[in-house]
Amino acid sequence: MYSLKALALALVVALDAFSAVQATLYVSLDPIFFANLLRDIQVIQPSSGSTCSGGQPCTVQWLDDGTNPLNSDIGVTTCGLYTGDMQLVQSIPAVNVANTQSLTFTPIPDAGPDSSDYYIAFTSQNLTVNGTNFTGYSSFFSLNNMSGSFSSPLASATSTIPIPSTLTDSSASTETGVLVTITVGSVDTSLLP
Ligand SMILES: *[C@@H]1O[C@H](CO)[C@@H](O)[C@H](O)[C@H]1NC(C)=O
Ligand SMILES: *[C@@H]1O[C@H](CO)[C@@H](O)[C@H](O)[C@H]1NC(C)=O
Ligand SMILES: *[C@@H]1O[C@H](CO)[C@@H](O)[C@H](O)[C@H]1NC(C)=O
Ligand SMILES: *[C@@H]1O[C@H](CO)[C@@H](O)[C@H](O)[C@H]1NC(C)=O
Repeated sequence: MYSLKALALALVVALDAFSAVQATLYVSLDPIFFANLLRDIQVIQPSSGSTCSGGQPCTVQWLDDGTNPLNSDIGVTTCGLYTGDMQLVQSIPAVNVANTQSLTFTPIPDAGPDSSDYYIAFTSQNLTVNGTNFTGYSSFFSLNNMSGSFSSPLASATSTIPIPSTLTDSSASTETGVLVTITVGSVDTSLLP
């Protein structure tokens, strides 16, 4: 059984190119934070959060720390910008965390307000834990230049984005196997007829 105490996705929310500041967000899964969610999480960093802006590209980066579950098992995930208890603010196109380490999305200004209560969640389409799709989270970060409200979600921003077949096509998955030739002995051809 996969341990949720293991770090699943180390997430970095990097600021866009126009920004002078960059912060690293580190996420572990531990039953302290988000106790109301099936996936418990403890945010280690940052203490103050980083910031992206409505209408400007926002880059999210993640790593595999080498413990279970591996990103190669998490595979294709749907993604979203969330607040509160998994309240979807904006859908983000799916990624395969097995072979990508970053995505860039542009927060829709009307999708939510200026707030420091945003996070990104990745929901695995391959891996379930106790019957629920495994979910990895970023730390909280801020969005500014936003003009919407959490109490009036933007339907056009939260509609489901279909997972492109290029992501789920098995031939597009990471090739990890290496063919090797192993010599296990020699054949004594003198015994052949
Ligand atoms: C799905 O997860 C299993 C482990 O549960 C792993 O062996 C497999 O490679 C994963 N497949 C994809 C497509 O991510
Ligand atoms: C959970 O994963 C399954 C595929 O294993 C998928 O059909 C389903 O839509 C996923 N649910 C969510 C909430 O992502
Ligand atoms: C799965 O559920 C069992 C029983 O409720 C619980 O003891 C265990 O910790 C859960 N495992 C995970 C990885 O959440
Ligand atoms: C916020 O939007 C204004 C225009 O509405 C723009 O001038 C400003 O650069 C934006 N700030 C950021 C941080 O993107």
